Amino acid sequence: MIYNGDCLDIMPTLADKSIDLTVTSPPYDNLRTYNGNSQFDFEGIAKELYRVTKNGGVVVWVVADATIKGSETGTSFKQALYFKEIGFNLHDTMIFERDSFQKPNHNRYWACFEYMFVLSKGKPKTAYMISDRANSQSGKTVSSKTVRNADGSTSTRRPVVIAAFGKRKNIWAYSTGYGKGTTCKEAYQHPATFPEQLATDHILSWSNEGDTVLDPFAGSGTTGVAALNTGRKFILIEKDESYCEIIRNRIANHQPYCR
Ligand SMILES: C[S@@+](CC[C@H](N)C(=O)[O-])C[C@H]1O[C@@H](n2cnc3c(N)ncnc32)[C@H](O)[C@@H]1O
Repeated sequence: MIYNGDCLDIMPTLADKSIDLTVTSPPYDNLRTYNGNSQFDFEGIAKELYRVTKNGGVVVWVVADATIKGSETGTSFKQALYFKEIGFNLHDTMIFERDSFQKPNHNRYWACFEYMFVLSKGKPKTAYMISDRANSQSGKTVSSKTVRNADGSTSTRRPVVIAAFGKRKNIWAYSTGYGKGTTCKEAYQHPATFPEQLATDHILSWSNEGDTVLDPFAGSGTTGVAALNTGRKFILIEKDESYCEIIRNRIANHQPYCR
């Protein structure tokens, strides 16, 4: 489902506890204008996200700060703490590492990341940890070991063969910039997309096939494409009509796994 409108008008039409997962990225401070759509009622939208999220559902909030008069705004942290105040768990503060970024001032290091706050309504009901980090000790056998338990008794751990791949770390790196986040050229008419693989990885981690995934700040529709690719239903809300047109074309011309 694709809605053209303000998410604060559309979300109240969604039922309580109807969304399994939200993967979204709001405008960051006033870094971009989005055709006049950079201001939004954060607290109102946060409360609506809490209402529509199922118990055990997850919200992935991708965000970064502007630097104004020499200081980062801290908006990202304020938002994360507000989500906690209204009932979400701050399940994991993850990092999206970019490989394209602007030249910094002489007195700053290259700013190469954004936050991915993983918020959950209670304990996450779905969590499939992606395990694609190559283990340097792959194939090695860790011999049996006797360990002492908390009550003083002992038990023996069986020998373990180390698997080829282990669980990922919570810093995820993606190639960004033209032609890298998606092969859909039309998507780049939007000024600030996140990579399709980022949305895909969160969808695979925090939802099941057939689940409903929401993006209330849909932009070019990246979350919708990732949901289609992975067999999830999607609800996309975007205020700007010209960006909605990109979403409609992107979804209509979508080829599964053709990125
Ligand atoms: C950072 S962009 C999202 C980009 C998206 N993740 C993608 O990959 O294409 C934020 C989007 O939110 C939209 N927006 C801002 N305020 C909104 C609101 N109140 N309701 C719906 N969309 C809004 C902007 O027009 C902009 O396209």
